[in-house]
Parts: sequence; structure tokens; C-alpha cells
Amino acid sequence: NTLYERLGGEAAINLAVDKFYQKVLADERINHFFANLDMKQQIKHQKAFMTYAFGGGNNWNGRSMRQAHQKLVEEKGLTDIHFDAVAEDLVATLVELKIPQELIDEVVQIVGSVSHRNDVLNR
Ligand code: HEM
Repeated sequence: NTLYERLGGEAAINLAVDKFYQKVLADERINHFFANLDMKQQIKHQKAFMTYAFGGGNNWNGRSMRQAHQKLVEEKGLTDIHFDAVAEDLVATLVELKIPQELIDEVVQIVGSVSHRNDVLNR
């Protein structure tokens, strides 16, 4: 079965989305990127992020990761430091949810892959 299922399916996603975003919005290293963002965009970001994180990246039909973050890179200086902070908040969320370490490792491999990072950071 898929990583999504092994992580606990929809119930786990919903919990993770809430916890993760609370962390991101409380994280002074990165919360300025989300200031003045409309709520619809934020919800889109949360869900899409978790879909990626949980290994279901194929059904995303919004902008590409590259396009979605282009302005943040060009105008707001989005870089590795911020990417790492987001990844750290994600791992902390999964630890709090008592997701087994080997599943967290799988999540990190997907979200933190060099190709994914390079897309988000427009390299
Ligand atoms: C937009 C996913 C990393 C901040 C988005 C969107 C998605 C997404 C799907 C919306 C695209 C759309 O509306 O069409 C992800 C994933 C990431 C990641 C999977 C890494 C694994 C980051 C990081 C930051 C960030 C590191 C900042 C610290 C934002 C913001 C927007 C956005 C502020 C809205 C941009 C706008 O509307 O102009 N992201 N993101 N994201 N992301 Fe991310």
C-alpha cells in the first residue's frame, strides 16, 4: 500500500495539516512569507504540501512547484534556509503525531529530495 495509507490516510492528513500550519505560522524564520496571503491560497498550500509529503504528488493540478514559488525566490529571498525550516517543522509535526521514524524517513526523502528543493527554489 501507499505511503499515504501507511501514514494513516485522510484522518492523519487532516491532523498533520493543522499542526504543520500552526508551526509554520508560529515560526519566525518563515512566517513572513505567509503574511498577507489570502486564506484560500494558504489552504491550497497546506493541502498540496501534505499531498507531496505523503507521497501523493501526482494529483496536484495547480501551478508547478517552480511557478508557485518563483516570486518568493525573486522578490522575497526564499532560499535553502527557509526550505530547511519548513522541512524541520514538517518532521516535528510527524514526530508529535507519533508517526514511526522509518515512515518519517520516507517523507523526508520525498519532500527533501534535491530535485524537489531545486524546483521550489527555482534553480
Ligand atoms: C505556494 C507547495 C515550500 C511558501 C505553494 C503552492 C503549493 C506549495 C502547492 C500553491 C501553488 C498554487 O497556488 O498554485 C510547497 C511544497 C514545498 C513548499 C510542497 C516544499 C516541500 C515552501 C517554502 C515556503 C513556501 C519553503 C516559504 C518559507 C509558499 C507561499 C505560497 C506558496 C507563501 C503562496 C505564493 C503565492 O501565492 O504567491 N507552495 N511549498 N513554500 N508557498 Fe509553498
